[in-house]
Amino acid sequence: MSGFSAEWLQLREPCDARSRCEELVLAVRSRLPSRPLQALDLGSGTGANIRYMAPRLAGEQRWLAVDDEPALLGHQPATLQGTNFRCSVSTRRLDLATELDSLSLSEFHLVTASALLDLVSASWLQLLASRCADARVNVMFALTYDGRVQCMPHEPDDQWVFGLVNRHQRGNKGFGPALGPDATSYARDVFGMFGFQSRVMASDWVIEPEEQSLQRELIAGWITAAHEIAPSEAERIELWVRRRLTHLLAGTSRIRVGHQDFIAWPKAPGG
Ligand SMILES: C[S@@+](CC[C@H](N)C(=O)[O-])C[C@H]1O[C@@H](n2cnc3c(N)ncnc32)[C@H](O)[C@@H]1O
Repeated sequence: MSGFSAEWLQLREPCDARSRCEELVLAVRSRLPSRPLQALDLGSGTGANIRYMAPRLAGEQRWLAVDDEPALLGHQPATLQGTNFRCSVSTRRLDLATELDSLSLSEFHLVTASALLDLVSASWLQLLASRCADARVNVMFALTYDGRVQCMPHEPDDQWVFGLVNRHQRGNKGFGPALGPDATSYARDVFGMFGFQSRVMASDWVIEPEEQSLQRELIAGWITAAHEIAPSEAERIELWVRRRLTHLLAGTSRIRVGHQDFIAWPKAPGG
């Protein structure tokens, strides 16, 4: 059980959608074969990645949404359609950390995930890259946290707290030691080693002062992480939180969280 709630995924979805790099989805689309498209969404949760990508990929699509939380998969609609696209969505409960091999990647034209890559380990990502190379499949990993956080107005302890948070990000999230903020640059290297070309673009969250619920949840997550890494610093962390919440209540708090979107495609044979 990875501990993500449907409420949290719903809260972040609008911010995710406006932050993502549409240009990279269109670049992926230009490399995909004729329809119907067969696509795999890893760590799919309630299906936010599919909802974002489907209208942009256009046409007839068949998605497999994989996650280890049946309660999240239960929110996935079986079909999705709009003026230019129609999708069927099947779901499968699977622990990706231990059961990746049970997925036959050669059945898909596209392997994708959003907000997953920073949770995985280097060895797991290597395995995924080698399986994607065998299948000669296109990949897109969106919204990977990259370690940059900026809060406005600044507080003196901001970077100290984010240092603790980034240490926490490198802990085990079920896949072994997580890549955390290094995930996209590692993906670039490892997919390159397996013969892929790739592109990376920023997809930073910019959370506005009026988005109070999202800011509150984000700060709550930071507090938990900071306490876990530095339990002896509880007082300093609490003072920092109080100052951040004062800005939030005053309607002056704006938060930028660095994310990156990544696409990769196999080089042409001999290329
Ligand atoms: C941050 S959420 C992102 C969900 C969704 N992609 C989105 O963008 O809303 C990470 C997702 O990965 C799933 N996950 C984490 N560890 C997993 C594992 N070992 N096997 C399968 N899914 C996992 C979680 O259940 C969660 O749905």
